Amino acid sequence: MPSSCSKTHISLLVIFLFSLHLCAHAGDLDQNIEINWGNDQAQMLNSGQLLTLSLDRASGSGFQSKNEYLFGKFHMQLKLVPGNSAGTVTTYYLRSQGSTSWEEIDFEFLGNLSGDPYILHTNIYTQGNGNREQQFYLWFDPTADFHTYSILWNPQFIIFYVDDIPIREYKNSVSIDIPFPTKEPMRIHGSLWDGEGWATRGGSVKTNWTEAPFTASYRNFSANACVWSSGASPCAVNSSDATWMTQVLDPKEVEKLKWVVRNHMIYDYCADSKRFPDGFPPECAVTVIKE
Ligand SMILES: *[C@@H]1O[C@H](CO)[C@@H](O)[C@H](O)[C@H]1NC(C)=O
Ligand SMILES: *[C@@H]1O[C@H](CO)[C@@H](O)[C@H](O)[C@H]1NC(C)=O
Ligand SMILES: *[C@@H]1O[C@H](CO)[C@@H](O)[C@H](O)[C@H]1NC(C)=O
Repeated sequence: MPSSCSKTHISLLVIFLFSLHLCAHAGDLDQNIEINWGNDQAQMLNSGQLLTLSLDRASGSGFQSKNEYLFGKFHMQLKLVPGNSAGTVTTYYLRSQGSTSWEEIDFEFLGNLSGDPYILHTNIYTQGNGNREQQFYLWFDPTADFHTYSILWNPQFIIFYVDDIPIREYKNSVSIDIPFPTKEPMRIHGSLWDGEGWATRGGSVKTNWTEAPFTASYRNFSANACVWSSGASPCAVNSSDATWMTQVLDPKEVEKLKWVVRNHMIYDYCADSKRFPDGFPPECAVTVIKE
């Protein structure tokens, strides 16, 4: 499917008065994604409808989006490594290329022994620093079928969704100086790699290479986003085309997020007082969603 792009000029906020290429990409992965690691360990199948990544002792594999984006709403469907996936890490994330400031918004799926739960590990790096982990158990078997994992990234919020259920919100603030990624464009990335040193039960369960190759599948990528073109001014959006640019959680979604926090969150850095004896990072004060 060809992508539909339009060029628009709009003022969203005074500080976001820009021009951009606003694009909605959907459908075939090969239009939007290129394999950048692992050669034939990564395969584009079914005329670009399906992408598989595999990992063996020699190599993992990965891909990245052809475009860079500055803000957007990104969807991907993933089916994780089945059976004994202990030691493996499957990822789907946004990352900046820029050397000035390292920005990243991460979904990482930490594998496990057959029958034991994956951990969904999330993190946000901005201005070169991460250390913003939240972890969850999923409420379904992520290896049995495809599920949709989405990232909303606009100037006010980063929201992680699983099957349209918000699992994490990271809020920008004008009143407190919150580190928030607003300047560097990012690419979508995905990878499957060996993380046996830490992934499963803190690294005590290793990858069992007799079960290799391990394979994870990706499909149905879509991006409602500002596509960055280098040299041009940064992005802005036409509000009629881009409700995501000002999207916030509605009251029903807040209830869903609370349900996730109450029942499925297993780690929150903003609740780890041992780790931050001198006080929590500033964004913890505006994270309104608590159980
Ligand atoms: C693996 O299973 C164990 C036992 O249920 C659990 O403690 C752990 O959180 C699971 N996930 C990972 C990635 O270790
Ligand atoms: C690794 O997998 C093989 C094949 O499934 C199994 O026979 C073996 O016991 C496993 N090794 C460990 C250390 O669990
Ligand atoms: C593909 O994703 C879009 C949303 O981005 C969704 O509407 C559609 O149902 C998905 N297709 C499948 C086969 O799940």
